[in-house]
Formats: sequence, structure tokens, C-alpha cells
Amino acid sequence: MKKSFSKYFAPSLRDARKRIHSIQIIDFNIEEKYQGLGNNKTYMVKTYGCQGNIADSEKIVGIMNALGYKEVFTEIEADVIFFNTCAIRENAENRIYGELGRLKGLKKNNPDLLICLCGCMPQEEVTIDLLREKYTQVDIVFGTHNIHKIPEYLYEAYMSSQRVLEVYSFEGEIIEGVPQKRTHKARAWVDIMYGCDEFCTYCIVPYTRGKERSRTPEKIIEEVENLVDNGYLEVTLLGQNVNAYGKDFENRDYKFGNLLEDLAQTGIRRIRYTTSHPRDLDDYTMEVMGKYKNIMPHLHLPVQSGSNDILKKMNRKYTREIYLEKINKLKTFVPSLSLTTDIIVGFPGETEDDFNDTLKLVEEANFEGAYTFIYSPRKGTPAATYDNQIPADISKRRLLTLNKAINDGFLRGNKRFENMELEVFVEGVSEKDPNILTGYTEHNKLVNFEGNQELIGTIQKVKITKAFTWHLRGELVE
Ligand code: SAH
Ligand code: SF4
Ligand code: F3S
Repeated sequence: MKKSFSKYFAPSLRDARKRIHSIQIIDFNIEEKYQGLGNNKTYMVKTYGCQGNIADSEKIVGIMNALGYKEVFTEIEADVIFFNTCAIRENAENRIYGELGRLKGLKKNNPDLLICLCGCMPQEEVTIDLLREKYTQVDIVFGTHNIHKIPEYLYEAYMSSQRVLEVYSFEGEIIEGVPQKRTHKARAWVDIMYGCDEFCTYCIVPYTRGKERSRTPEKIIEEVENLVDNGYLEVTLLGQNVNAYGKDFENRDYKFGNLLEDLAQTGIRRIRYTTSHPRDLDDYTMEVMGKYKNIMPHLHLPVQSGSNDILKKMNRKYTREIYLEKINKLKTFVPSLSLTTDIIVGFPGETEDDFNDTLKLVEEANFEGAYTFIYSPRKGTPAATYDNQIPADISKRRLLTLNKAINDGFLRGNKRFENMELEVFVEGVSEKDPNILTGYTEHNKLVNFEGNQELIGTIQKVKITKAFTWHLRGELVE
């Protein structure tokens, strides 16, 4: 029998566009009636999408462990399965629908299994319609703003025979004190802000993540200091547009550059941040990057297109000239900078000339890596209604041409480190060979080298012996 959804709020992209609520900070706690909810039960979290979702999944794990659930890593063992989803492109969503379809069978064997869909997809009305009509195996649905209410939703699902749905399309809350179970023992994701107010015309994120809101510097500094005390060597500061950090503070003038500087002074070995918007990258941030050795000489600065016409239609609020000027300025502070980017091809109206401008920019900016995408129309965003949508075969051809140029830059960027001794943060073992360790240099270059697994989570000196397109090969320096 099909169960219907219980009460609560359903999403509305139209409401999600508004920016009317003031920011409230709320402290997380687990009410007494939910304590021990997960005793003798297991759960599994499947994560899709960006680092924001990875960090959110660490919070889901933290909450579930606090409720007494035990984490497992196969679906067949799990009593609760979370899908922390991504809505950025159509193929990201299709993949998740495919997986949900597959789980229907699993439910026949384990009728008590609870399937939860969360993250960015539930923030869209179209997803909820599909869940109502087709994917009736999903029991609990919540969005990006209410992870902290997991205990309540699980409780409801156990107590009632209805499906639980609560997705907020109004935003403005910052939840502090959610337990976060870090995936790595020496490298941590640290949220510094939530949401995005840029409204690039192709992008669903400002609707799924709500308005820009910054955590207080005090909370962030305290978190990083604790990480240092616990032996952590690297932090990556997270936000959809970290360079807009602090713009929402009403009574204080404290921006991303200030935060970066204060965090550098905690003494953590390595600081990275992602993602940046070129418009908001300011001189002070550049200066601070040049001043502190523990701020890594790598920047991921999405450009999206090299054509001024397309940049305008994308609402990116900068030109190719401004972009180049900013990165050249940054290189005066950080001469060895390694620069990576995101590029979209096939945006509505993109001509061959526009695309050639992108190729020229790739040369001029000397990118050492990029995530490249074919434009995917997202319902509810302005660009989805634009004329001149580009046929798939043209976009595919452009993507191939672009990728070739990007790969050349990738190899060039790797080659400059041949024969050098570099510090490598050892992240794990190679999937192909357990004797080969993998790690990242300060410039965020992937290195493979032979070594003992005990070195995972430490920083080691490695001599680079050969550069390939996707990685460097090296030898441990004893
Ligand atoms: N806030 C970040 C990243 C957001 S999503 C930023 O602004 O850089 C990551 C990347 O996905 C974007 O940089 C963009 O290149 C790509 N992207 C976003 N929406 C897309 C869409 N509708 N179609 C194709 N690619 C998209
Ligand atoms: Fe999307 Fe643009 Fe915001 Fe990035 S800056 S999340 S691309 S709207
Ligand atoms: Fe995807 Fe949401 Fe991140 S749409 S890219 S998971 S912000």
C-alpha cells in the first residue's frame, strides 16, 4: 500500500529565491525522548555532490552515532539508508534515481528498512512529485537546512505509518554544535559559511542552499584550534562562495581575508579553501595568501567561460579581463601558484567565437586542471528558459576540444615539479596497489609513491621522479 506524506513543509523554488529572513544561530541538542533511538540498529550514508555534502554527511554520521546507531558500509546490513543528494546537473540526479530504483528489491527482504532522501534534490518540487508518484520506497525526506532534525524524523517514521517530509525553502539558520564524525584522521572539512547569493543564471545552488550566512569567526577559530590540538594537519574551509564570507555580518567588519589570517595564526600546517568567486576575491585575501606559508599555494577559481557575452548572460559579474587581472595580481603575491577552475560549455547562445574565447582564456590563464561540464538546464533557473539552447552533439564536441587543452595544462603544471623534493600529505593507498601510497603536495598535485601504510595522515618529503597528466610519481626521501 502506498503511504502518503505526513504534514510539514514542501519545497518551493519560488520561495527559495527570496532573501527575507534574518539569521539565527541555534544550538543543537538531542531531546531526551530520542536518546537511544538507534540502539541495536545500523545505518549507512551515501554521499553525492560537492564537499558541502561531504561535510553534511559527516554531521549525519555524528548525529546517528549519538543516537546509538552503528555505521555500516553495505546496503544489505543497513536498517536506515541516507541518500545525501546533489541537484547540480541532470545526470547527477538520474544516477540517484537509478540507485533508488534498485533499493526497492532490498525493501522486500527487509520491510523495516528506512530510506531517507536528503541534500539538494528534495529542495526541488520536481523531486517531491516523483517521490509521491514513483519512488514510494522513500520513507523520510528532508533538505539541506534541517539535518539537525534527523532524530525527530526517525522517531516519527517509527511511530507513524506515514512517510515523513519536511523541506524548508526559507533559510537563515546556522546550527552550531552538531556532532561531526570526521572521515580523515588528520585532514578536516570546516564549514565557514552556508548558502549562496550570486544567482548565476544556470545554477540551482542558491535555491537549494539558501542565502549566504557566515559562521562567527570565534566558532571557526575554536574549531580549528581544537583540530590542531587533536593532531590535525590540514583544514579545507568550505562554502559555496567563501570570498563572500562576513558580508552578512551586521555590526562587524571582518571578511574572508581576516579569517584566513586568524586561522593561519592557529599554526595548523595546511589551510585550503573552496570555492571562490572571482568577483569577491579581494586584495587583502591575496596579500594574506602570500604572507603565510601554511596557506597553500593553490586556488580553485571557477571562471565558467572566457567569453564576455556568455559571462554576462551567466550573471557572473566579471569580464575575462578582470579575471586575468585578478589572477595575475595574485601571482605577484604567490608566484608559484597553481590555478584550477570550472568551465561550462554549451551555455544557451554560446557561439563558436564564444567557445574560442574560452579556449584562448585557458591558454592565457595557464590553468593546471579543471572540472569541465556540459550545460544542463535546471528547472526554475533563468537560463533554462533562454532561447538558443545548444544541441548535445555541439556541446560534446566542444567539451572534448576543451578537455584536450585542459589536459595539456595539467601535464605542464605537473612537469614543473619533476626532480623536486616536495612535502606530501599522505592521504591513503592506491586502489590498484596496497604498497603504493597517495597524497597531495602543497600545490594540490596528486603523488604516488611506495611506502608503509603507517604514514597515512602524516606529511612526508617525497622526491618527484616523473610527471604524468593526472599524477606525479615519486620516492620517499628518508
Ligand atoms: N559555488 C561554486 C561551485 C558550484 S557547483 C562556484 O561557484 O564555483 C560546481 C560547478 O558546477 C560550477 O562551478 C559550474 O561550473 C558547474 N555547474 C553549476 N550549474 C551547472 C549547470 N546547470 N550545468 C552545468 N554545470 C553546472
Ligand atoms: Fe552556483 Fe554561482 Fe553560487 Fe557558484 S557562485 S554556487 S555557480 S550561483
Ligand atoms: Fe550538488 Fe548541492 Fe553541492 S546541488 S554541488 S550538493 S550544493
